Amino acid sequence: MYLHLQTCRFSLRLIKPLTCLLLVIMLITMSTVPGTVLGESDAASNAMSLTRDPHYWSETQIAVLSSLSLSSLPPLPPDPSNSIADKPAAAEFGKKLFFDVRLSANGTVSCATCHKVELNFTDGLPRAIGVGVTKRHTMTIVGTAYSPWMFWDGSKDSQWSQALGPLENAVEHGGNRSLYAHILFNDDVYRTQYEYLFGKFPDLSDVNRYPNSAGPVEDPEASAAWEGMTQEDREVITQIFVNMGKAIAAYERLIMPAPSTFDAYVMAAKLGSWTRMQATYTDSQARGLRVFIGKGQCINCHNGPLFTNNDFHNIGVPLSIDFPLDFGRKNGVSVVKNDPFNCLGDYSDALYVQCPDLLYTKTKGPELVAAFKTPSLRNVAESAPYMHFGQIETLAEVIRHYNEAPSPVQGHSSLTKLDFTINEMKDLESFLGTLSSPLAAPADMLKSPWPSMAK
Ligand code: HEC
Ligand code: HEC
Repeated sequence: MYLHLQTCRFSLRLIKPLTCLLLVIMLITMSTVPGTVLGESDAASNAMSLTRDPHYWSETQIAVLSSLSLSSLPPLPPDPSNSIADKPAAAEFGKKLFFDVRLSANGTVSCATCHKVELNFTDGLPRAIGVGVTKRHTMTIVGTAYSPWMFWDGSKDSQWSQALGPLENAVEHGGNRSLYAHILFNDDVYRTQYEYLFGKFPDLSDVNRYPNSAGPVEDPEASAAWEGMTQEDREVITQIFVNMGKAIAAYERLIMPAPSTFDAYVMAAKLGSWTRMQATYTDSQARGLRVFIGKGQCINCHNGPLFTNNDFHNIGVPLSIDFPLDFGRKNGVSVVKNDPFNCLGDYSDALYVQCPDLLYTKTKGPELVAAFKTPSLRNVAESAPYMHFGQIETLAEVIRHYNEAPSPVQGHSSLTKLDFTINEMKDLESFLGTLSSPLAAPADMLKSPWPSMAK
């Protein structure tokens, strides 16, 4: 009634009292007839609106939609483990490193080989190809500055420590830290950029002390050369290597998703503008969104403006018999806890209390077996194939997987069967397509600074 009286008081100033009286009678009648907009519960409104109007959303539903909108994304929190994370000069330096194919064993692989700007920073392949073939599917880097964990198993806890992984991985860049330190040392521009951020570049000209190729890597020669170095000299090289990672992270922090059709739709829903909602979404897309936040339970894990809870779940995706079992988070958590480059390690700029994720993450439990990081669904329609092994080819198949919720090969699946109708599956797929958008990053950050280098 309060609402109706407010309407009347407001209306009195604008329209004739008689019209106001009629309006009140109309509203009271509507609110007492079951099934009309004002009287129904959320559940009932959900069911009703399917038959009536896919663009009708209750207040509660609008709050949920709003929580998924990019306009709810908080400002990027600082990374206390990386003191140069937000310096423009570091991002500039990091961008050059990100696209530099010289930072590899064969001079052909850069981060951008697998994280291609034009493919939403992924590669379109089931398993990535660098110097060799990797065991997992390439993840995007878009928006990952918001993520406390990196990699499908969260075996890294920052963007800078993550970047050090592929550089020394035998099948990705395939090189080693001493090789990279020498490339920077011998390049005047790199050296100047480095010194601006980190102070004097150590003198690496004595190759007996600092071999051209050395590091704790698989390659036996580089590994032996590393063993032959003094602890102090290794430390010099490792610090340069860490600083490279921190600069790359400063670059990656600028790569974010831009608002999509979905965000425009939420804006229209919040304004209660049917015309704008209908102009933005087809009925099928609106129904798909309803399935996403309702019957499909997708929002249990794909939530927040980046559509991820940043947590790990076993959803029982099929595994390939050709590859060894992947234990996911179960192994990832012990790797990150023991990583010398983690938030609590000597190379981190954070204080102990600034590493709560690492300190309090769950380290044991059956739910960690074959659990993988919930990926963001922004731009998902552009980044097939799917899942940690790239084992599902299309979004339609992903949705069928959720519908059937098969028993996992190892561990326990978090999914339950959903009983979708064919139409619900189609609607869900068309909704997922509305999460695509261009990237939000300064234009010069999306171009290779090495136009003459092959990617
Ligand atoms: C050979 C292809 C390849 C190269 C080269 C490569 N990556 Fe990746 N990237 C991957 C794959 C595959 C994954 C997932 C690996 C895993 O989970 O084990 C990944 C994961 C990531 C992630 C984690 C994203 C997330 O949501 O957790 C980031 C960030 C990233 N790479 C950045 C980089 C940077 C920076 C470089 C260069 C220093 C680089 N990558 C080089 C293939 C590659
Ligand atoms: C229990 C948590 C959970 C729920 C519920 C869930 N997801 Fe996922 N989703 C994940 C995880 C974890 C992965 C990655 C799994 C892997 O690679 O093994 C994933 C992967 C995906 C992918 C592949 C993305 C990519 O880039 O590879 C899509 C698409 C997807 N989910 C859509 C959905 C939809 C649609 C629903 C609702 C029907 C849903 N998810 C419900 C956790 C969940």
